[in-house]
Amino acid sequence: MYSLNENTLMQTSKKNPFSMSPDPQLFYFSAQHVACLQTLESAIRLRSGLSVVLGDVGTGKTTVGRILMRLFQDKPDYMFRLILDPQFVDELEFLAHLSRLFDIKTKANSVLEYKEALQSFLYFKGVNEKKIPVLIIDEGQKINEPMMEIIRGLLNYETNESKLIQVVIFAQLEFADRIRLMPNFMDRISAAYVLQAFDEQELYHMIGHRLRRSGYEDLYHVFTKSALKQIYEYSHGFPRKAINLCHQAYLAKISEQLGIIDEDLLTRNIRRKEVSHV
Ligand SMILES: Nc1ncnc2c1ncn2[C@@H]1O[C@H](COP(=O)(O)OP(=O)(O)O)[C@@H](O)[C@H]1O
Ligand SMILES: [Mg+2]
Repeated sequence: MYSLNENTLMQTSKKNPFSMSPDPQLFYFSAQHVACLQTLESAIRLRSGLSVVLGDVGTGKTTVGRILMRLFQDKPDYMFRLILDPQFVDELEFLAHLSRLFDIKTKANSVLEYKEALQSFLYFKGVNEKKIPVLIIDEGQKINEPMMEIIRGLLNYETNESKLIQVVIFAQLEFADRIRLMPNFMDRISAAYVLQAFDEQELYHMIGHRLRRSGYEDLYHVFTKSALKQIYEYSHGFPRKAINLCHQAYLAKISEQLGIIDEDLLTRNIRRKEVSHV
């Protein structure tokens, strides 16, 4: 029996192709991910306000958010700020967090005072300094209603041509049900994109891309065709699920010193996952 251990990877000269972190280096620019990024990029450039990206767990939302921030990293006019876990006890805590995030110097200690401080900040940045603050919120399904109201309020600040803050929310699909019940919030959405699971070919392209990026030559030197098929069937094309399985099979391949990942190795790993629910 082999042990699942990151040290095993150290014994090879190659990089781990199946790292689970949202690493832009390993990102495969599929048609839908590119379209999503283009949608967000132009919404931000046009300063149209609120964009929402929806997708099931593990479809690439967090990674797309990182790549989006990278696309703008050399552009000093944009001030990107990220909230990874939007859970706040109340409005005051959320407003205080926003003020800190944007380095707003304020003595505010009530909701009203914070709102005023944010408003003056946004006008000053947008009108006097021509800067574009961009707030990225991940795990948007955790945003509660009072927070939604504050975000909606921020989006009210505008000049004749554009909004003074750009907001991009990445959320799981259930967020759509929530916003449907809030027509005022719905109205503010200027761009929306839904990330789907990959189809079979796209999934193989993604796995092949990760392998090449990590120093391997060819997908079919690492996986047999039937092993790949099993990965698709098991993951239904969801990147996280597929990568997770590939990762386990890859570690097993190294520690068992196998030449290729075949159906048998995968079946054993899928069974193990089913038993241990990972
Ligand atoms: N297009 C892609 N190319 C390579 N890896 C991807 C791609 N999309 C998602 N992944 C990988 O899938 C996993 C889940 O992605 P993540 O961005 O965390 O999804 P989500 O935020 O939607 O749950 C990560 O390991 C990520 O690197
Ligand atoms: Mg995520």
